[in-house]
Amino acid sequence: MSPPDRALERIVVRRRGPLEGTVRVSGAKNSALKLMAASMLAEGTTVLRNVPAIVDVQIMGRLLTAVGLEVSRDEDELRVTTGGHDLVPEAPYELVEQIRASIVVLGPLLARCGRAKVSLPGGDDFGSRPIDMHLRGLEALGATFELRHGDVIGEAPSGLRGADIVLEFPSVGATENIVLAACTAKGTTVLENAAREPEVQDLCHLLSAMGADIEGIGTSRLVIHGVNGGDLSPVDHRVVPDRVEVATYLACLGVSGGELTVLDARAHHMEMLVSKLSDMGMTVTALPDGIWASAPERLRAVDVSTLPYPGVATDYKPLLTAMLSVADGVSIVTENLFSGRFKYVDELMRMGANIRTDAHHAVVRGVPQLSGAKVLAHDIRAGAAMVVAGLAAEGETEIGDVRHVDRGYAHLVEKLASVGASIERRQSRSGSGSESASS
Ligand code: EPU
Repeated sequence: MSPPDRALERIVVRRRGPLEGTVRVSGAKNSALKLMAASMLAEGTTVLRNVPAIVDVQIMGRLLTAVGLEVSRDEDELRVTTGGHDLVPEAPYELVEQIRASIVVLGPLLARCGRAKVSLPGGDDFGSRPIDMHLRGLEALGATFELRHGDVIGEAPSGLRGADIVLEFPSVGATENIVLAACTAKGTTVLENAAREPEVQDLCHLLSAMGADIEGIGTSRLVIHGVNGGDLSPVDHRVVPDRVEVATYLACLGVSGGELTVLDARAHHMEMLVSKLSDMGMTVTALPDGIWASAPERLRAVDVSTLPYPGVATDYKPLLTAMLSVADGVSIVTENLFSGRFKYVDELMRMGANIRTDAHHAVVRGVPQLSGAKVLAHDIRAGAAMVVAGLAAEGETEIGDVRHVDRGYAHLVEKLASVGASIERRQSRSGSGSESASS
């Protein structure tokens, strides 16, 4: 039997009754990818556990292999080995353009090799995503950059040295690149207005376990005392659970009704979201090993505004908008991070949602139910939002471009089906969708 053609694959969702049961959340994509890049700082084999089985992890694995590391996987355990030979500090366009997180190899490559050439990925389906803060931060540490033929070429021939850096905005990626570079720089780096996301904290914890000296983990002021590169040793680390995957199950529950236990979910990583879900009428309770949640007959409208952690994450927003499109009342959803992150709204409107967007606001007037339609997953979270919408729609919803969903979710269809959702993968006879990268 020939393998399924991803371009022809669809996720097909139908409304059914309430969800009931238990799902286990995987490790966070946005942590695992950065931990993989961090592994190149220590000689030997770093073991990462709870690594999600997603396409982005495969691509990052290929990128690290291209750079000269050995990457192997056994179930949810990933081993990244460095040592024995020099790294090739070049991240090729073919891989970088598929996954924006690859820019995070820039800092560790400069630290290890004194130079790096990383292709600049293009814009995203949810707008332009510059890397100016990454570059300015690394320049403050002593690197110089030029852009040639679409590649960022960085050099730090005499090594990196600590500096005082203030980020204009608490960028996740810029914080990570700067921390990765600063760990083995000479002297102390003070990074103000640093991102505080649980995934950034996870990276700092891995680096500390390797032997890096980082103060202020989880705060917006990180103080990194540089250590000798040779002093970092490989570790065995479990990836933090994926809070956006948890939010996805809670959103599915919200529109379906019922009760769910999400094992491994950490309520304290998503306090603002839990508060919004409570305002919408859901009950969300922290358990020692996860979260228990239940949903009312119909959700209530609430206003939502995205912000860096600990605010409501921009990655939750498509899920929340899908929920609010069938809530009772009118909600205003404001996007403060990615100006163009409303493309999925057109798809929701094809399903009968009543949403009006204006710049970075969406006014969502809840309708009693949506109507199943053929829609596209424009990016990872937009794809998940289509699943939520499909569970709130009469008739069948057929989601195309599912490769985006596979980039960020491991076994989403199987996990949702196991708690009673009517969801399956199906091969369609005709292809559709554009080729684009995201996240
Ligand atoms: N920004 C700049 N210049 C920079 C860096 C960022 O202007 O040098 C701007 C961005 O354009 C954006 C804002 O700062 O407006 C925040 O961007 P950030 O750097 O924090 O985001 P990121 O590191 O590119 C990560 C996640 C995203 C998530 C955002 C925000 C990964 C691989 N990606 O992106 O996740 O939305 O943080 O929390 O970690 C996803 O998982 O689907 C996804 C898109």
